[in-house]
Amino acid sequence: MDDQSKEMKKDVNVIGGFSSGLLVSCVKIMTMLLVSALISYFLLDGYGTLAVSVGFSVLSSLFLVPMFISYEKKVTAQGQRIVTLQHHMIRTIADVIEERDASTGGHIARTADLVEMLLVGMSKMPKYSFLTPANIEKIKNAAPLHDVGKIKIPDNVLNKPGKLTVVEYEVMKKHSEFGADLIMRSIKNVEDKKYFSIAYNIALFHHERYDGKGYPTGISGDQIPLEARVMALADVYDALVSPRVYKEPFSKSKAIEIIREGKGTQFDPELTEIFINCISNRADM
Ligand SMILES: [Fe+2]
Repeated sequence: MDDQSKEMKKDVNVIGGFSSGLLVSCVKIMTMLLVSALISYFLLDGYGTLAVSVGFSVLSSLFLVPMFISYEKKVTAQGQRIVTLQHHMIRTIADVIEERDASTGGHIARTADLVEMLLVGMSKMPKYSFLTPANIEKIKNAAPLHDVGKIKIPDNVLNKPGKLTVVEYEVMKKHSEFGADLIMRSIKNVEDKKYFSIAYNIALFHHERYDGKGYPTGISGDQIPLEARVMALADVYDALVSPRVYKEPFSKSKAIEIIREGKGTQFDPELTEIFINCISNRADM
């Protein structure tokens, strides 16, 4: 398992961890009260004190446990509302950017669905068991930011009705670094640090290639964060089956053939196989 996967595994279900913390506190308090009851029994005047102390312990527990559970529910609901709001805002930013890019209508929503499809397929393998529904949702929610850096690409390059020149292509390639920089500056203070790190990795590394011939850094293999290797497959597949100013959409079978040709060179070989298996079984994609 690569470092990225280990880090993600560590981060599973923060809210669940918080919940266990409260329950542990309840148990500690109840234990403390029962111990004090027993001490009273041995050191003071026997059964009378014990009965009073045990009674007090039980009544306190009856009061404390519902109080902690109610508090826990409120905190969890509030946290969930903040996360939902953040996701809506981020999705809106991504939609605004897509509006600027005349050639990619619906690309953001479709690639997020493809990312989810691939992650669900991966999660069935023991080595990817850390891809819980919560982790899959986190990556799916970060996927819409993969091209956020295009906001800094000039219109004459972004919306050029034809193939880019070498110089224009170099300008376009800057969108991955621009995107990572924007994410670093705009959402680094969000509560969910793991979400920030996934969004950053996707924006910066989604054009890296498995053989190291991608951009912007030229890292290769498992050095490329897992979420970026997943995004690369979704991004390219959707571009292949969608119309562009310079090409007609490829058929699904042709797109799968092109993806297969990139196995081990452009794409992670194992993820390529899982992607092809999943997409072949989907009539809607
Ligand atoms: Fe991109």
